[in-house]
Amino acid sequence: MNRKIYIETYGCQMNVADTEIINGILDKEGYEICTVIEQADAIFMNTCAIRDHAEQRVYGRLGNFDHLKKRNPHLVVGILGCMAERLRQNLIEDQKLVDIVCGPDEYRKLPALIDGAFHGGKGIQTQLSRVETYDDIEPLREEGITAWISVMRGCDKFCTFCVVPFTRGRERSRSLQSIVREAGTLVARGVREVTLLGQNVNSYRDGEADFADLLVAVASVDSGLRVRFTTSHPQDMSDRLIEAIATRENICSSIHLPVQSGSDRILDLMNRTYTRAEYLERVAMIRRSISAVALSTDIITGFPTETEDDHLQTLDILEQVRYESAFTFKYSPRENTKAWKMGDDVPDDIKGRRLEEVIALQRRISLERNRELIGSEATILLEGPSKRSDTEWMGRTDANRTVIIPKGAFEVGDTIRVRIESATSATLFGTVVGRTFAHGSS
Ligand code: SAH
Ligand code: SF4
Ligand code: F3S
Repeated sequence: MNRKIYIETYGCQMNVADTEIINGILDKEGYEICTVIEQADAIFMNTCAIRDHAEQRVYGRLGNFDHLKKRNPHLVVGILGCMAERLRQNLIEDQKLVDIVCGPDEYRKLPALIDGAFHGGKGIQTQLSRVETYDDIEPLREEGITAWISVMRGCDKFCTFCVVPFTRGRERSRSLQSIVREAGTLVARGVREVTLLGQNVNSYRDGEADFADLLVAVASVDSGLRVRFTTSHPQDMSDRLIEAIATRENICSSIHLPVQSGSDRILDLMNRTYTRAEYLERVAMIRRSISAVALSTDIITGFPTETEDDHLQTLDILEQVRYESAFTFKYSPRENTKAWKMGDDVPDDIKGRRLEEVIALQRRISLERNRELIGSEATILLEGPSKRSDTEWMGRTDANRTVIIPKGAFEVGDTIRVRIESATSATLFGTVVGRTFAHGSS
């Protein structure tokens, strides 16, 4: 009987895509991927190290595995991903339960590691690579109408607060050809939307081809395929790229463009490589070129030395840009980063208060922006039932806004024209105007 593997995934979409790559590798080796933890012969956590809280969650969860291991002493437990890369040997030494530690560039070695662990050994593989992109591995995805495609790995930006360059290594891109081929395979399987993934997709490069070329190439695979991408670094948000998004109907008009802070002094300490004025210029250019574009951002409150005035400038840039949405975080010092050496001098209660102010302001702006859409029409791709009710569908607009509609005779994957009738800060509610594409009809 095939051995059963169970994987839990934490962190960003890159990790979600990596789990599909891992599943692809293990499936090919004859392992069975299972979804019931009690049935597993090996349990893995694909982990995140971005903030301390992310790591604490993993330790907490690891504690839950104790009773499983007591019941089955042969159970193999492994830590994968960014925490594995950051803590390496320490994980095996400090956590008696852990048999395998495997970093993001070493997943090809997992079958050998698992084999060793089933024979009672412990194993660590955490080399980072300058070339590994898993280009030739076919990810094992759950069936669905949306899919992630990882197009690059690593990051060379070295923002001073961030562990990613240390946990994911140097930036490297997959070949354009293999990405286009993968998009083609997905379309043939009924996928209607792909999201191209990387920590900084704008610096994608394959020979002469840059990210604008890649986007256009993937969008050309099928004019009915929606193409999304994340994350964009403001410094590399070129005119050419903006032009490509503006002119291609099926490249979605939503850009995640993290600003982190509104203060030039803090941006400099963060090594974000743009000023507030430069950032606002890029936003103006995007808004001029791409009609009905939606912008989202990430904000950190309480970076070392952040003053009340710096914080007010962050609130001010939120007011100026009027993002559709924002992800907001309290600064969490990460060992060995440059910011770590600056000291964590903003008290936690002040970080928290500033975070609440950012959240409250953004909630007001998101609500205002959503209300502006009441009465307008949009096209949505139906993704599934609404989380709240069986009598409603959930879909997303081109600009990545969630729309809820009453359940009619539709199917997941249908493209539907809707009119927006009401709004909250996170959700739009619509009525159906017509169907433009029936899934499975082409
Ligand atoms: N590559 C993306 C972001 C990756 S991490 C980019 O450059 O925008 C996602 C977000 O986590 C970051 O944008 C940042 O806002 C937040 N983050 C990263 N390190 C952090 C830290 N040490 N403390 C708090 N938030 C952090
Ligand atoms: Fe981290 Fe900065 Fe790279 Fe984003 S661009 S992953 S924040 S170092
Ligand atoms: Fe976390 Fe690693 Fe992603 S640190 S945010 S899982 S790249």
